[in-house]
Amino acid sequence: MAFDLDMIKGVYARMGERIDAARQVVGRPLTLTEKILYAHLWEGTPSQVYERGKSYVDFAPDRVAMQDATAQMALLQFMQAGRPQVAVPSTVHCDHLIQAEVGAVQDLQTAKDRNREVYDFLASVSNKYGIGFWKPGAGIIHQVVLENYAFPGGLMIGTDSHTPNAGGLGMIAIGVGGADASDVMSGLAWELKMPKLIGVKLTGKLSGWAAAKDVILWVAGQLTVKGGTGCIVEYFGEGAESLSCTGKGTICNMGAEIGATTSIFAYDERMADYLRSTERADVAEAASAVWANLRSDEEVYADPAGYYDQLIELDLSTLEPHINGPFTPDLAWPLSKFAQAVRENNWPARLEVGLIGSCTNSSYEDMTRAASVAAQAAKKNIKAKAEYTITPGSELVRYTAERDGILATFEEIGGVVLANACGPCIGQWARHMDDPSRANSIITSFNRNFAKRNDGNSSTHAFVASPEIVTAFAIAGDLTFNPVTDTITNEVGMEVMLDEPQGIELPPQGFDVEDAGYQAPAEDGSLVEVLVDPNSDRLQLLEPFKAWEGTDITGLKLLIKAKGKCTTDHISMAGPWLKYRGHLDNISNNLLIGAINYFNDKSNTVKNQLIGEYGEVPATQRVYKAQGIGSIVVGDENYGEGSSREHAAMEPRFLGVRAILVKSFARIHETNLKKQGMLALTFMNPSDYDLIHEDDTIDITGLQQFAPGEPLTIVLHHADGTTDSFQVNHTYNEQQIEWFKAGSALNIIRRSIET
Ligand code: F3S
Repeated sequence: MAFDLDMIKGVYARMGERIDAARQVVGRPLTLTEKILYAHLWEGTPSQVYERGKSYVDFAPDRVAMQDATAQMALLQFMQAGRPQVAVPSTVHCDHLIQAEVGAVQDLQTAKDRNREVYDFLASVSNKYGIGFWKPGAGIIHQVVLENYAFPGGLMIGTDSHTPNAGGLGMIAIGVGGADASDVMSGLAWELKMPKLIGVKLTGKLSGWAAAKDVILWVAGQLTVKGGTGCIVEYFGEGAESLSCTGKGTICNMGAEIGATTSIFAYDERMADYLRSTERADVAEAASAVWANLRSDEEVYADPAGYYDQLIELDLSTLEPHINGPFTPDLAWPLSKFAQAVRENNWPARLEVGLIGSCTNSSYEDMTRAASVAAQAAKKNIKAKAEYTITPGSELVRYTAERDGILATFEEIGGVVLANACGPCIGQWARHMDDPSRANSIITSFNRNFAKRNDGNSSTHAFVASPEIVTAFAIAGDLTFNPVTDTITNEVGMEVMLDEPQGIELPPQGFDVEDAGYQAPAEDGSLVEVLVDPNSDRLQLLEPFKAWEGTDITGLKLLIKAKGKCTTDHISMAGPWLKYRGHLDNISNNLLIGAINYFNDKSNTVKNQLIGEYGEVPATQRVYKAQGIGSIVVGDENYGEGSSREHAAMEPRFLGVRAILVKSFARIHETNLKKQGMLALTFMNPSDYDLIHEDDTIDITGLQQFAPGEPLTIVLHHADGTTDSFQVNHTYNEQQIEWFKAGSALNIIRRSIET
């Protein structure tokens, strides 16, 4: 599927010299993460030390992957750069918009009808700009990336939080927002704070019902949902080498649940086996030739405590299966304690649905282990007592599993095979339920289990486990069942036990597929038309933002002085608005509707200074925009924390807000604002926040001398005729000032391509 062997060989050819240089500047042996990161510096050969947890570093990723929901705005932005082709190999995967209702075939057709305009846009834009397009039904982004594109030692970004799945193949793969993807595809550097490192030393070997999934369920219990923030988790030790490549993928995938930047395993024979079985023997050969560069230096393995910011050890031989939840993935229960926890907490013991598969757990090994449990049930005359669904991660896995009789085994106990898509994992699930408000339990082999995630019901208690445990529980229909110790009553009243699952790591007859669902882009896309219906309410082509007018910015109206927490969700709400994420005008109708107005403690109620009446924030801003009047948003501490959602920066820019002035910014949002050509300013003296009145008209002066480290001045014209003025800081560097002057970062690229 067009994985780029030359690109991979190029990475390997550069790596050795860069790692040597990094070792020199750092002055000690390097971990695997450090090797890959220092080998991917934007500047090329490393010449300085980047401090973990402190330094912001520009990187040059090898690939970009996008899922269909986040790809829309990423690609609309990318089109602004005016490039004929993407700067790095990139792919789009149609997986998030397919709703599970009755079964794979019908659900896929419904999704194609319902999302036609989005799919047509993504297919045509991919075709035009040299992007690989994976059609709806082809599979889930992370599984498809693992099967086709991930390679040891690579650096990839993806517009989805479970992008780290590719760490199972020794790649540093990091989830980002659409703006980052658009930048990298446009040929810009990608910035990341040098992560801290958590080492996880695995000893021993899994046995019985324990699976790779249980490693990360256990780690999540140890580190909690925040424990990995700002860190890359590196797994190593003989236990790591005993895990299959796809098992490693599962562990890295769910590292997102501990907040980790990403997770990674070193290159080993199991990865080589996986590469060979997915028709990439030449990648395995190339990787094996630079084997030492794809693992930490031996000194690190000999004394890991000296190289990681935190070190954890786990003996796989002692690891029990785990069940995590409900409502959070870090509430970790060993199987032997789980039944008691269910009883003590009064969680509904009757299991209503067991769901296996998803990007987290749908490898051939996962399928065969779960099927070995299902097969015993069928043989021992038991049908699954709970509903049971199977979500294959890709058509490659689905086709192969069907060929090998695995899907038929699931169906024998009542399993329903869903489309190769996210489906119930992302709430795309038309669950059949009598009363959605009834407390109920489900268990999945997915990764997230926050309230409402799967079926939108806050009363659903969702638990997470391995596919084999989910299958055993679905068969028993009971959360207090322990397959290691308990019996089940079969259809003829006999008490039977389930034996330990048996898995097959890779299909003995090889993988097979008729139509993987891949569409290669046109060799020359210059004549390809990007399909966007001008009447669409879901998609809208972007117009470049206007360049700075070259003068001070005066006469701005105060749009809102936000009080307290103002996250990206307050600025650009999710939920029903996500439907419009490809239509900037429509989604801008959620601008700041969650922010609390300092002057009346209400959300979405601000004073329209032109008429003196209160109205909704977006509507008020649209009045200013219609009259050609700019505005300013004032905020409190850590403004824009939360996600990397680029809409939170694009919407105010689109509606004519000229500056965001706050006590402090969340860094990613601040950078996003700069990229959109917005002024992101902070009070030099935080108490100046109090000087801002509801009826103020505001000037920003000093812009002609706009320079790194030089403050700007804010002048407040109060309604009573008095004025106040104070200085404000900014963190723009030379290049970012150019973004501001040009109107956006992408405008600069377009200009450079046009000239
Ligand atoms: Fe999709 Fe769920 Fe994975 S939403 S990408 S299957 S985490």
